Amino acid sequence: MAQVLWQQMRNWEEKQPISLHVPGHKNGTIGDTSFVQAQYDVTEITGFDDLHQPEAVLKESMAGVDRHPDYDAFYLVNGTTSGILAVIHAFQSLTGDVILARNVHKSVFNALDLGMQQAVILPTATDALTQQYVKPDGTAIQRLTGKLGVVTYPNYYGQTFDIAQTVRQFHAQNCPILVDEAHGAHFGLTGFPSSALHAGADFVVQSFHKTLPSLTMSSVLFIHKAAPRRDEVIRLLQTFQSSSPSYLLMASLEAANAFYASYESDYFFERRAKLIDVVLSSGLRVKEMDDPLKLLVYHPTLTGHQLQQCMEDEGIYVELADTQHVLWVLPLWHEGDTYPFEQLMTRIKAIHIPNDVMTELELQQQLYTEEGRYVPTQVERSRWISFEEACGKVLAQHLVLYPPGIPSMLKGEQVTSSMIELMGQWYHSNLRVEGLKEGKIKVKDDE
Ligand SMILES: Cc1ncc(COP(=O)(O)O)c(C=O)c1O
Repeated sequence: MAQVLWQQMRNWEEKQPISLHVPGHKNGTIGDTSFVQAQYDVTEITGFDDLHQPEAVLKESMAGVDRHPDYDAFYLVNGTTSGILAVIHAFQSLTGDVILARNVHKSVFNALDLGMQQAVILPTATDALTQQYVKPDGTAIQRLTGKLGVVTYPNYYGQTFDIAQTVRQFHAQNCPILVDEAHGAHFGLTGFPSSALHAGADFVVQSFHKTLPSLTMSSVLFIHKAAPRRDEVIRLLQTFQSSSPSYLLMASLEAANAFYASYESDYFFERRAKLIDVVLSSGLRVKEMDDPLKLLVYHPTLTGHQLQQCMEDEGIYVELADTQHVLWVLPLWHEGDTYPFEQLMTRIKAIHIPNDVMTELELQQQLYTEEGRYVPTQVERSRWISFEEACGKVLAQHLVLYPPGIPSMLKGEQVTSSMIELMGQWYHSNLRVEGLKEGKIKVKDDE
């Protein structure tokens, strides 16, 4: 029988790909992942521990993830997604709204849907450098009351904001806060931004796999020792996680934690400076992000997607492309790593930029930034109508602009005239928007 997945993996391997994307072990060249062998793929047998009720080696291992004395760490084998589901669902029986930044991950909406919890969506401004959402509006936080705040810090592109201030603003309203630090498991290392763990957030969840050398799907949820609904969150981790967690995943979290604890950044910053020199001398340009692990690389005559293709032609694989840039997630280089750094330099120099200047540059994308309300809606009946005629209707499907693939207008939101104006811009610029098809959107059928 054809093994199409394995075949695809072999085809990819044959291209000798160089990774500038997640996971953080960069095709096994960063950190130590030598323990990844099927013989160690055990789960709860004698001598091992129970992730649903850790009392032995798992308890000891998790206690070793001691980023901050106020927090306990919980291993997640179903990604940051499972931590987000557990935290949000734990607040389901309380009255009041959840308060969200507009750039939260789709798992947040799934959690709200599951418990039929309503949310206020904070106005969330975009940044001129990247056109991405960064910071939720502090003035709005100060006038709202809610049962749980959820923000994304940093954003996908590595942009940060004063998270300590945001946490203070929520706490001043007696509202606990979950910080989705999926892209910041390496935060706190010398030369990198500070983690929300130092800002007193109630819950912080990090995708170790994205930036540290652990296996895909391995994450950590940090719960403050004084966090409200703490026991309920811990109980719900059982609901949202497998009862047969692989020790490979959990051992990779332990290894990534040891990697973090002993990491010295000097070598990383030397390599990064050298890389940027080579990129610039090859005619490409760079935008540096708050997080030095992320770099936006671009060329004035190419769209991000075209540049991505030029890089892939040389076997350089990037995290994502947008209308203008490609996003690189750099390796946490260290003494003794096997990352093909010299090979990367050679391939960057070889990138061929087509001579004929592209005239059809895609327009800059614009996201919806205003305040809104999310009402989980069981849409039993819906219909497609022209977006121009949708004012006052309720969206039956999220509108997701790619990239970054974050729902920008939400199922359950009432369509406003400013939304229609923005949909018009997206539509006429031919941007890729999931949920907007041939000028039509799906709305709740209220007849
Ligand atoms: C901001 C954010 N939060 C959460 C997630 C989900 O993380 P995981 O893949 O670890 O489940 C992602 C994944 O891309 C993300 O970008």
